Amino acid sequence: MLILGIETSCDETAAAVVRDGRETLSDVVVSQIDVHREFGGVVPELASRKHIEAISPVIEKALEAAGVEVSAVEGIGVTRGPGLIGSLLVGIGAAKGMALALKKPICGVNHLHGHLFAVFLERADVKFPFVGLVVSGGHTSLYHVRAPLDIQPIGKTRDDAAGEAFDKVAKLLGLGYPGGAIIERHARGVDAGHLRFPRALLDNGQFDFSFSGLKTAVLRSTEQMFGVERRTDMPGSFHAVVAPDLSQTVPPAVKIIAAAFQDAVIDVLVAKGLAAAREYRSEKLVVCGGVAANSALRDRMVHEGRLSGIEPVFPSMRLCTDNAAMIAARADILLAAGLADAPDFGAKSRW
Ligand code: KG4
Ligand code: ZN
Repeated sequence: MLILGIETSCDETAAAVVRDGRETLSDVVVSQIDVHREFGGVVPELASRKHIEAISPVIEKALEAAGVEVSAVEGIGVTRGPGLIGSLLVGIGAAKGMALALKKPICGVNHLHGHLFAVFLERADVKFPFVGLVVSGGHTSLYHVRAPLDIQPIGKTRDDAAGEAFDKVAKLLGLGYPGGAIIERHARGVDAGHLRFPRALLDNGQFDFSFSGLKTAVLRSTEQMFGVERRTDMPGSFHAVVAPDLSQTVPPAVKIIAAAFQDAVIDVLVAKGLAAAREYRSEKLVVCGGVAANSALRDRMVHEGRLSGIEPVFPSMRLCTDNAAMIAARADILLAAGLADAPDFGAKSRW
């Protein structure tokens, strides 16, 4: 089936054309990061407005890049949630309009299931059942994917998502936004030495996560090393009292905190992910979502996976972060199974 996928759950406006859930004909992503950077995080109202501006050109570009006429599209998949409600509604509105005009089936896709199924755009050797770990800015969740239509959640974060922790720690250290890639860069090759942050719920035999204690431990260490100030521009946020322009020179102690933080997150993700794969007898562990773009995480997963006979599988970097090809891939399965949605379906901010 030739599917048009649309994704607007957060701060990327994306559209893609995918054939049979496996072949990406086009994959267009317009990021709003520059708009949100100065606020240190995604501003929901701004995000919706930017989606409204971008959605039609992005869809047109995806069709053009795929070299297909809009009339050739056989079905439409759009992210229904979880995400920012105003942002989701922009994508859903556009998708519904097209489905009605073209008289084609439409289905709302769970964004997290989209992340899990991105892997099928690149790999033919991932078989069901498998265990999948979604690590993104909004979610840290483990799934037992028993069959294409049987996705069982087996654990999730009790508080912050891993990516959210990266973003908050980077903000605290004054390193910028979004935090994941920046922390990774500053932590590269840095030995955290004696600085060791807590690894929450590591040995409890369950698959839930918690990152808020880690965030607080980082705040305490930063306070001891540099002092912190309450931010006047962002209620509830602190920032470290360090060099005024960190983009020029990042003090070694900041890099050590970044490395110790990243080590703690990676330890937990690797241990829990591989333990879940062992428990559910999955030869492969699919690791996806924005944080899965982290090279240190990828390296450790591969190393530890080898020791326990489990092969971690990562989508390529581009497919780890938000995109519409993964939504189209998931929609292909739903539509082929006859699971089109009635035209009155709504957005789900939580799912
Ligand atoms: O999946 P995604 O693009 O959007 C959501 O669905 O949330 O994930 C975005 C998250 C952000 O928190 C960002 O800081 C994090 O992924 N991220 C990373 C890296 N690249 C992006 N975290 C750690 N290391 C990275 N290299
Ligand atoms: Zn995502």
